[in-house]
Amino acid sequence: MAEFTLPANSKMQPGTTHKASAAARRVKRFNVYRWSPDDGQNPRIDTYEIDLDQCGPMVLDALIKIKNEIDAGLTFRRSCREGICGSCAMNIDGTNTLACLKPIDEVKDDVRITPLPHMPVVKDLVPDLNQPYAQLRSIEPWLKSESAPPPDAERRQSKEERARLDGLWECILCFCCSTSCPSYWWNGERYLGPAVLLQAYRWIADSRDEFTGERLDALEDPFKLYRCHTIMNCTKTCPKGLNPAQAIGEIKKLMVERRG
Ligand code: SF4
Ligand code: SF4
Ligand code: FES
Repeated sequence: MAEFTLPANSKMQPGTTHKASAAARRVKRFNVYRWSPDDGQNPRIDTYEIDLDQCGPMVLDALIKIKNEIDAGLTFRRSCREGICGSCAMNIDGTNTLACLKPIDEVKDDVRITPLPHMPVVKDLVPDLNQPYAQLRSIEPWLKSESAPPPDAERRQSKEERARLDGLWECILCFCCSTSCPSYWWNGERYLGPAVLLQAYRWIADSRDEFTGERLDALEDPFKLYRCHTIMNCTKTCPKGLNPAQAIGEIKKLMVERRG
């Protein structure tokens, strides 16, 4: 029988509150998910009070301030701090997004921060992304061709051919979309999810790639592609403004066209 209660070791425990100094004038509370594999404790939400007059404008600025000045053990990924590397993806105020692109003042009340949903947690805000990366590898995200390139020249594209890649090449593989997709939550081991399918379409749509048929063959599977039910969470949440649901729709269209 299905069990709908949390297992005992997943129940949230009360966390610690780190108060702001009495001199702080513009205090904002950050409620942050904490869990470590090392101490045998259940997860908890710790609260950090930050004086916004002493903090940069983005949620990532607050996390870095907490780590530097209050709690060095707080663990999260980040690198570029400008929406390019995709590593600071997390759930902020109920939405998957990039901490470095999320202004603190867009969150009205306390800022609640949890890891990307429905993924195993490595520690605190760090999700285990091994599964989506293995799925990315499976679609062979690189140019594949049998013909030799022109001597001493790159493979050319017309402006129109190049334009077909717009809205695809900008994906930074943050996986905000896949981890917001209910189909991926329930069938993540077999359904590739919107991020990987957008990448698959990026190579299918590339005029220089000569393996379009094989790429479509590899996706012709009841789970890998067809678990997308056009719920559109992916497109709604993408912090780069991309449309993975549309890319998935384009793959499905090509599947139908080649049957006809
Ligand atoms: S449109 Fe498809 S991929 Fe996007 S959230 Fe819905 S089911 Fe998932
Ligand atoms: S499509 Fe958007 S949300 Fe999905 S991985 Fe790419 S950049 Fe992130
Ligand atoms: S730190 Fe690179 S995308 Fe946020």
